[in-house]
Amino acid sequence: MRKNLFLVLALVFVIAFSGIAFADSHGEEISLTVAGGAVGQEKELTIKAAEMYMERNPNVTVEVLETPDLANDRLGLYLQFLEAESPEVDVYQIDVIWPGDLAEHFVDFYDYGAEEVVDKHFQAIIDNNTTTDGRLVAMPWFTDAGLLYYRTDLLEKYDREVPETWDELEETAQYIMEEERAAGNEDFYGYVWQGDAYEGLTCDALEWTYSNGGGQIVSPDQKITINNDKAIEIINQAAGWVGTISPTGVTGMGEEDARSMWEAGNALFMRNWPYAYALGNQEGKPTAGNFGVSPLPAGDSGKSAATLGGWNLGVSKYSNHPEEAAKLAMFLAGEEVQKMRAVEGSFNPTIKSLYEDEDVLEAVPFFGSLYDVFTNAVARPSTATAPQYNQVSELFFQAVHSVLTGESDAQTAIEYLELDLEDTTGFETGEPVQP
Ligand code: GLC
Repeated sequence: MRKNLFLVLALVFVIAFSGIAFADSHGEEISLTVAGGAVGQEKELTIKAAEMYMERNPNVTVEVLETPDLANDRLGLYLQFLEAESPEVDVYQIDVIWPGDLAEHFVDFYDYGAEEVVDKHFQAIIDNNTTTDGRLVAMPWFTDAGLLYYRTDLLEKYDREVPETWDELEETAQYIMEEERAAGNEDFYGYVWQGDAYEGLTCDALEWTYSNGGGQIVSPDQKITINNDKAIEIINQAAGWVGTISPTGVTGMGEEDARSMWEAGNALFMRNWPYAYALGNQEGKPTAGNFGVSPLPAGDSGKSAATLGGWNLGVSKYSNHPEEAAKLAMFLAGEEVQKMRAVEGSFNPTIKSLYEDEDVLEAVPFFGSLYDVFTNAVARPSTATAPQYNQVSELFFQAVHSVLTGESDAQTAIEYLELDLEDTTGFETGEPVQP
């Protein structure tokens, strides 16, 4: 009896102490903050993924910090935290164009087990997120490419095809816009896109210039190539859309402005990223079931081009819990969460096998049919110009914006732009190179 009592006491002792040891190594209460986007369904899906993580890691609380929609505003906010070396944000959702400019602020995921997962992702994005000395400063989260959204019901009604060139787009947009207005919808426009002076305009205008054989602004071998006839011609053409097939207010529109006009049923065509697909199909919206998605039109002297976009997760060097933050980032960028975001939000996975996943393809069929558009998207010159990409892009979108608003003609704006780019980068000028 005494012996038994002794055994019970010994057991209680062991359990109690192992419990303490367990709490020490695994149970420390940790709070992590993720700074993420709120464009479309972004915020709610990030919160959903954070909840999935917390359920499996009860000692971790994940806060989601909402950040501004426009990429430039978001960068401004991030720089405030990062330059102050603030531990307030642990994980940052960073744009595909930022790893070069921001690398110094982020930890190397190879220190936290990334070799086991990198092969699953598109190699081009891993390369994009890797510094010249081999540090992986961000995990790919979702990729993006510019697409043309078109109203199937209206093209059918007026017996028109999906446009394959910018000229065809103009002509069809003008015609159907006039017909729809005559039929009573005075708010109807032909084409909405991103014309505000911000990063989104850099994306749209790169699509115009590249699709017309006008190059990538700055070439991968560091030559300033934007001052050429094909780029000038297509920027002038786009300026002609403002106040005709597109509202005058397009020069103040970001992705979400274009989407809300489109979803209200007031546009025939829209340029946007894949996230607008799931939202446009939500029950009750005039666009639901009434639209398709295709590659963007080509210029007279080129072929269709989509700008490469997308977002990644970086862990701040100033985090108090870099290891836990890296674990969280790798969970968010892992297969389960990428699949959930693809199915529910039409966010393009960066994990190759998900493009063959039946549930993903059923929810977003164009992930399969437009696969080549995603894998051949044109990169902005962020690697060639790092760490000055942000300045380069700002000079570019300001120049294009001045043409769209009629303050300047394209020839003059692009000549000044070339000089400004020479000053900023120190690069020489050259001829546009593209396949
Ligand atoms: C999308 C893209 C991103 C781009 C931004 C511009 O979010 O994924 O790469 O910079 O749009 O508005």
